[in-house]
This record gives sequence, structure tokens and C-alpha cells, in this order.
Amino acid sequence: MDQQKLLYLSRADVEAAGVAMPEILAALEAAFHEHGEGQAEVPPKPGIHTRPDAFLHAMPAFIPALHAAGVKWVGGYPDNQRLGLPYISGLLILNDDETGMPLAVMDCTWITGVRTGAATALAAGYLARPDSETVGVLGCGVQGRTNVAGLNVLFPLKRVKAYDRTPANAERYAAEIGERFGLAVEVVAEPQQAVSGCDIVVTAGPILRTPHATIQSGWLDSGAFASLVDFDSYWSGPALREVDKFCTDDVPQLEHYRNIGYFQHLPPIYASLGELVTGRKPGRETPTERTMTCNLGLALDDLATAPLVYRRAIERGIGTWLEL
Ligand SMILES: NC(=O)c1ccc[n+]([C@@H]2O[C@H](COP(=O)([O-])OP(=O)(O)OC[C@H]3O[C@@H](n4cnc5c(N)ncnc54)[C@H](O)[C@@H]3O)[C@@H](O)[C@H]2O)c1
Repeated sequence: MDQQKLLYLSRADVEAAGVAMPEILAALEAAFHEHGEGQAEVPPKPGIHTRPDAFLHAMPAFIPALHAAGVKWVGGYPDNQRLGLPYISGLLILNDDETGMPLAVMDCTWITGVRTGAATALAAGYLARPDSETVGVLGCGVQGRTNVAGLNVLFPLKRVKAYDRTPANAERYAAEIGERFGLAVEVVAEPQQAVSGCDIVVTAGPILRTPHATIQSGWLDSGAFASLVDFDSYWSGPALREVDKFCTDDVPQLEHYRNIGYFQHLPPIYASLGELVTGRKPGRETPTERTMTCNLGLALDDLATAPLVYRRAIERGIGTWLEL
């Protein structure tokens, strides 16, 4: 490989590379194994905040077993929907782990979407009941889609109950997800209908420093698993404290968020995803436990996924080579 050139991959190029969810899940499993063994380097993300409830974060990681090194520079802007822009946007730089030379610059919108769905599925593999059939989705956007895509790889899903604050989004979602995965998707009018009666619940609305805390204790069924993609924004303190096993992808980063004002009502943290993947802590042990993960979204996920995209793009002749 000519180390004086880098491959630029636009959003369309990244999608055209066509890396599939099972490959991403396998890469994340390897990455979290490294993390659990203390081998991966994932420093807490520094960020700037140009608007209320918006962020621009720098997310570097090194995963030795995958020879993956680099950084994602990602923004999340809740008001972008009104401008016809994605909530999440940004760029990822992939580096050679031997020389440090930049190998690629790629749009990170697609990667951020799919790796988050894969991280939910990875956690669910340890924490959800294997016979889980019904998923409740609150927030029918990108994450509502990719989380079901990830879960559908590991579980015998039959139906989705979809709630969105904007009903038209839920209707669009139902048509798309129903056709794509052959699932029965019911659009529900009240948030509780997408929580109670579900084996798996995914909350994926906007992340708020002060949670709207809509979900009350008693809503999540005994034996259910929940993935808090939007942090604790959807969950009241009593609903969180009802959970038997509360997990996260990275305990120090969760503590960091707690110190700056997020997550004021969490139950004790049971395990990190790395501890589950390495078997240091058992996942679900009974069919009746309520389990939960709040994956903050680590650079580890992105840097596990980006080399798959880079290699597949080269194999398929996708992208634009640029001089350094
Ligand atoms: N933890 C992670 O790793 C991670 C990674 C990426 C995104 N996220 C978070 O996931 C969330 C969703 O991101 P996205 O890219 O899917 O956004 P999106 O804009 O594509 O979709 C969000 C959807 O939520 C709906 N919504 C807004 N408020 C709601 C509410 N109170 N109840 C139900 N629905 C509501 C919107 O109408 C929209 O359909 C964001 O909070 C984002 O920050 C987390």
C-alpha cells in the first residue's frame, strides 16, 4: 500500500462497501474481548458543545488484535431534522497501527448507525432471553432501524412495537422495517405500549441532560432486556432501579458523564460489556431478571467497523485516492 496516499470514502462510498451486520457484530465481539482484557486503548471523548443538547466529540481508539487505530470526529445536533440534515454526522480517520500514517478518511454517519445497533445486539446476546420475539422501539429513526437490524441477527424476532413522537416517522419506519426483515410492525400511540409486553426494548429518542423520564416503574416486564441508546433520557429513576443487572460499555466513561451531570438516578453498575464478553461476569442467569445496558457508544465500536469498510472498499475499487 502506498503510504503517501489516503482513501477518501464519501457517505455513499461507505454504504456501497456493503459490510453486513453479522461481520460488524463479530468485529465488535473481538473488540470488546480486547477491551475486557484491558488491551484496547479508548480514552474518554473530549467534546465541544456549540448548541444546547448538541455535541462534537473526538473519539480515538486502538484495538491491537484488529490492527485498528484512528479517531472519529462526530456531531449530534437534535435540531438538524428540521433542516433536512442527519442528527449524527462526521468523519473518521483510520491510521496504520505500525506507522501511524493516515490510511483513510471516511464519512462516519453510516458507521455510527450500524455499530450502535451491533453494540445493542452484542449486549443483548448476553443479557436478553434467547427466545426474545417482540421488540419495542421508542424513537423510529436511524437507531430504531439499526438496532432492530442487529437484534434480528441473533434473535428469532417476530414483531416490533414502534412509538415515535412524530407518528409519520413511525408509519414510515413500520413499512420499511416490516418489508426489510419480514417482521410484523405495529405502530403504537403511547410510549407504554412499546415497553410493556416486549421482550426487548430500545429507547432511541434524543439524548437530554435532564431526562424526560417517561418510562415508569412497572412498565418493563419481568424477564425483559432494555438498551438505552439515548442514555437515561427515557427512564425515570424508579424504572431504572427496578432492573436486576444494569450494564454499560465502559464504566469510567459512564462515571465521567455522571460527574458532568448526566445519569443522576442510576442503579449500581453490574458489569461492562467487556466483562460480559470475556466471561468475567455472567450475563442473564434466570428467565425472570430485568436486564439493561446503556452503551454510551465507544470509539472502539467505530474502529472495529472502519477497517471492514476500508478493506471492502479497496476490494471493490470504491472511493477516491488523495495525496497526503
Ligand atoms: N449510545 C450510542 O452509542 C449512540 C450512538 C448514536 C446515536 N445515539 C443516540 O440515539 C438517538 C437517536 O439517534 P438517531 O440517529 O436514530 O436519530 P434520528 O433523528 O434518526 O431519530 C430520532 C427519532 O426519535 C424521534 N423522537 C424524538 N423525541 C422522541 C420522543 N420523546 N419519543 C419518541 N421518539 C422521539 C424523532 O421523531 C425521530 O424519529 C440520539 O439520542 C443519539 O444521540 C446514541
